[in-house]
Amino acid sequence: MRRKLAAGNWKMNGTAACLAELGALHKMLPTAPPEVVICPPAPLLFRAHEAARGTGIEIGAQDCHMEASGAFTGDISASLIADTGALYVIVGHSERRDAHEERDRDVRKKAKAAWAAGLTAIICIGETLEDHEANNTLDIIAGQLAGSLPDQMTGTNTVIAYEPIWAIGTGKVPTLEQIVEVHDFIRAKLETRYGADIADMVPLLYGGSVKPDNAATIFQAANVDGALVGGASLKAVDFAPIIQALADS
Ligand code: PGA
Repeated sequence: MRRKLAAGNWKMNGTAACLAELGALHKMLPTAPPEVVICPPAPLLFRAHEAARGTGIEIGAQDCHMEASGAFTGDISASLIADTGALYVIVGHSERRDAHEERDRDVRKKAKAAWAAGLTAIICIGETLEDHEANNTLDIIAGQLAGSLPDQMTGTNTVIAYEPIWAIGTGKVPTLEQIVEVHDFIRAKLETRYGADIADMVPLLYGGSVKPDNAATIFQAANVDGALVGGASLKAVDFAPIIQALADS
């Protein structure tokens, strides 16, 4: 069975005081929880790992540099992330693709850098509102999968997050049928490129305005194995019911 995963992306929110949410979340987790990952801002990674000790909650970063080291002022390498105790790193989030002009090939290199450091890459893809309204979603997704996923992907080194850009932070969510269509399409594309064994193992997350009140519906989709959650991951009281819905699915 594929593993289920709930990942919280705190983005540029929170300070060390917010790490108390990890302890609070731990107390609210179901008895048999799915995998839970919290991705705080980079300066909090080490302390987040300490705070999560013994809770079963894993820590991830929100981005890494594609090079292992060097003269890249302000950037963070995957090995530095791994050194904090984190196990995951998000790459290719639409906010990075947009604000930092990251292209598919950059995302592909970052995924490889993550693997080289022993991290699992959470590779994000998703279409703009314009592409969604022009019915170009599947073409965009196919292009991003082809360009952002390295050939060396395995069933264990990668998680893929489908995040329609128009759904992020907007409260708008695709219909269940639309989510099913895209996730089935992604699974089929993975199978064609990597074979059924690998394709069946890679968790596919949905992301974009996942909230306690819509999570159970989204998790009905057979090829949705979890969620990448922004706003609703900041507070344990919001994230816990989403994790519960995933455990129940
Ligand atoms: P949101 O963000 O849940 O606040 O929409 C999701 C994301 O950007 O990963």
